[in-house]
Amino acid sequence: MAPVTSLASTVDQRIADALSAALPEAGPADPLLRRSDRADFQANGMLALAKKLKGNPRELAAKVVDQLATGDVVKEVEVSGPGFLNITVTDRAIIETLAARSSDDRLGVPFATDPGTTVIDYAQPNVAKEMHVGHLRSAVIGAAMVEILEFTGENVIRRHHIGDWGTQFGMLIQYLTEHPHELDHSGGQEVSGEEAMSNLGRLYKAARTLFDSDEEFKNRARDRVVALQAGDAETLARWQRFVDESKIYFHSVFDKLDMEIRDEDVVGESGYNDMLEETCRILEETGVAVRSDGALCVFFDDVLGPDGNPTPLIVKKTNGGYGYAATDLSAIRDRVGNLKANTLLYVVDARQSLHFRMVFETARRAGWLNDQVHAVQLAFGTVLGKDGKPFKTREGETVRLVDLLDEAVERASAVVREKGEAVGLTEDEIVERGRQVGIGAVKYADLSTSAARDYKFDLDQMVSLHGDTSVYIQYAYARTRSIFGKAGDRTPVARPELELAPAERALGLHLDQFGEVVAEAASAYEPHKLTAYLYQLASLFTTFYDKCPVIKPAPPQEIAENRLFLCDLTARTLHQGMALLGIRTPERL
Ligand code: ARG
Repeated sequence: MAPVTSLASTVDQRIADALSAALPEAGPADPLLRRSDRADFQANGMLALAKKLKGNPRELAAKVVDQLATGDVVKEVEVSGPGFLNITVTDRAIIETLAARSSDDRLGVPFATDPGTTVIDYAQPNVAKEMHVGHLRSAVIGAAMVEILEFTGENVIRRHHIGDWGTQFGMLIQYLTEHPHELDHSGGQEVSGEEAMSNLGRLYKAARTLFDSDEEFKNRARDRVVALQAGDAETLARWQRFVDESKIYFHSVFDKLDMEIRDEDVVGESGYNDMLEETCRILEETGVAVRSDGALCVFFDDVLGPDGNPTPLIVKKTNGGYGYAATDLSAIRDRVGNLKANTLLYVVDARQSLHFRMVFETARRAGWLNDQVHAVQLAFGTVLGKDGKPFKTREGETVRLVDLLDEAVERASAVVREKGEAVGLTEDEIVERGRQVGIGAVKYADLSTSAARDYKFDLDQMVSLHGDTSVYIQYAYARTRSIFGKAGDRTPVARPELELAPAERALGLHLDQFGEVVAEAASAYEPHKLTAYLYQLASLFTTFYDKCPVIKPAPPQEIAENRLFLCDLTARTLHQGMALLGIRTPERL
């Protein structure tokens, strides 16, 4: 594993050095280098620096040019506009850097030598409840962040904070106690996720109806909550049946999503039950929380209700019950104290932002979070229907996630079938690809806008072959494979001595940026940076493939080899990038 310095950072370093040589009194300055359409790179740093030193930016830029060696890496540099530098690199430097990337399994992307530990809280559905599109976002974004961070070398611990605790279980368990055979599975055969959910749904409805209509049952259900929290064995055993039944359902949905969720990472709200009392005691003893109307509360100057009075975070209710906040605070203690995390990342709906703001601030006051250990909510927006309103069925109900996934697969299969029959895909292949394309499309659409924004769930757009979609990228990947199928005995070889065509340079310079994009996506928790990069890579590859024949008409041997080399590195970068997003790249489409 050898990390490769990108051309951008080599050039950046050289200009920074030239800057300090030209202007030793200025101290280290950032050249503000970026990719540019006019040359390969543009450096804008001279403008700010000249302003600071009250000098002329064009003159300063000219001095930097004088200090900059050209030849091996920088081919040409010129002053332009009010004092930018336009920089062109050599074709040789491009191919040599890419050759170094190509010889590394990790495509030259650095692997942290002194990594931190991040706990990611994601994919957290609720027991005995149907999963909806909101749960999709947390799962998809969270899974991508797990892969991206792990790829950079970070230690990642996954936590699925499922909703498996609380007063609603009193009602459910009491109902099951009174109707003991409701969750029995006939003949010991395995239940499907669909069946499990329909059993739970039926039970939930029946229990709810009884709870709302029968005062006596309501009282028995309340007693059941007390028994559950007290750890009564029989009550717990029944509660466990709900959790188990729900897990069958969750796993079936995560399978459909082509996502691995490990049982040992599922630590739901119930997992912190034993810590709740102590959490509250510490908060009260340290004065972080105070008694108010019998409840244990934490107050914030900047969190006010509509009446102008402070709205507290309630850690223990008047009736002695613990809620969502007490659980989250205990989870923080566990993740920091026991799991030794430096970073806690919560992939949760933006509508819970106030909750997390208050929870994090409370944890800071208690000293559980501090300068070394911090918590971040990767808050995501709402999934909207085509009409721009929160996604609902025609009947006004929340859309079941499974229905949505099934429909995506169906649409994708139609697209795959249309093209696939021409390239001779078998029926089995069409079904498998349909799944990979459909699920990939759903994930990609979710990941390709910045998480904080709402987005419209539009299947037509998602499975379109044109535009910023995963299918477009998957086709580009499949095309690289088909090129190799036709390459015969020609193999990829980097040829730094060749002169490159513009489309080759553009593709090459983009390939060189993969590591930087991954680092950015990881540090800012922005998977959409990676989707944008991959989409552009697929587009540049398409242009390259149009303009620079690889197979037919056959170019001279060395040019063909070098082009195959670019195809190979493109394929590996697309594959690696899509894998980080949890999206498959079929070999044939
Ligand atoms: N189960 C919750 C929901 O469906 C999300 C849990 C988020 N994580 C947390 N630590 N509170 O809304």
